[in-house]
Amino acid sequence: MLITTGSQQGTDLAAKVLIDSGSRVLVETPTYLGALQAFAPMEPEFAGLACDAEGIDADDLKAQAPGARFVYVLPNFQNPTGRTMGEARRAAVSAAAAAAGLPVLEDNPYGDLWFDTPPPAPLTARNPEGCIYLGSFSKVLSPGLRLGFVIAPAAVAPKLLQAKQASDLHTPGFNQRIVSEVLRDGFLDKHVPTIRALYQAQRDAMLAALQRELAAPGRDGTARKAACSCGRGCPKASTR
Ligand SMILES: Cc1ncc(COP(=O)(O)O)c(C=O)c1O
Repeated sequence: MLITTGSQQGTDLAAKVLIDSGSRVLVETPTYLGALQAFAPMEPEFAGLACDAEGIDADDLKAQAPGARFVYVLPNFQNPTGRTMGEARRAAVSAAAAAAGLPVLEDNPYGDLWFDTPPPAPLTARNPEGCIYLGSFSKVLSPGLRLGFVIAPAAVAPKLLQAKQASDLHTPGFNQRIVSEVLRDGFLDKHVPTIRALYQAQRDAMLAALQRELAAPGRDGTARKAACSCGRGCPKASTR
């Protein structure tokens, strides 16, 4: 495990270590813009994979894997779609990548922010030798601390370390100590459920607003008026 300056740095280091100019890199459609920005300076050829509501189509991955350098995967609450891969899809994607000898770069900054049930185990847990895993404290503690980590197979870890040292020597020790303390004294264990509740309330408010503001018009095709639900006696009425 290598501590990084945010998981974004892990993405950047993986790009430096794995990509040569012209390397084909498989990505979800759509995918996290920041990863594309980290990969782009190494001049890969991006290949978009067919995706549905659960993410990567394993058959398309099988078809596009030969000759590709790696596949970048966001199995939990994907940015930007929010989709999550179910158990069966993870197994199929993991098996397709392993069969093709295709390394998986697994980015998981949001995995702890589930509402009802935790997501299935990461792809890395299924095939640790074939995956590089990116984790972050940004979404559960503080983005400004810039604390992330990479878990990589022994064959790749020294190369990532070399790239890390070239990049910024090390992640600030002061910030590492802060995170170490909140892990040790149990603060993070108590804090994460409070953030889950906060995000869940925001999700519910968003769904209610979408339903209220953008629901299909009535059968007669006329728009309907609904009272504003801001709860502050707002006189505004929304049309739907
Ligand atoms: C999918 C994804 N990966 C990585 C990052 C970067 O996170 P960090 O703050 O740990 O660098 C983000 C930030 O928004 C993200 O959405």
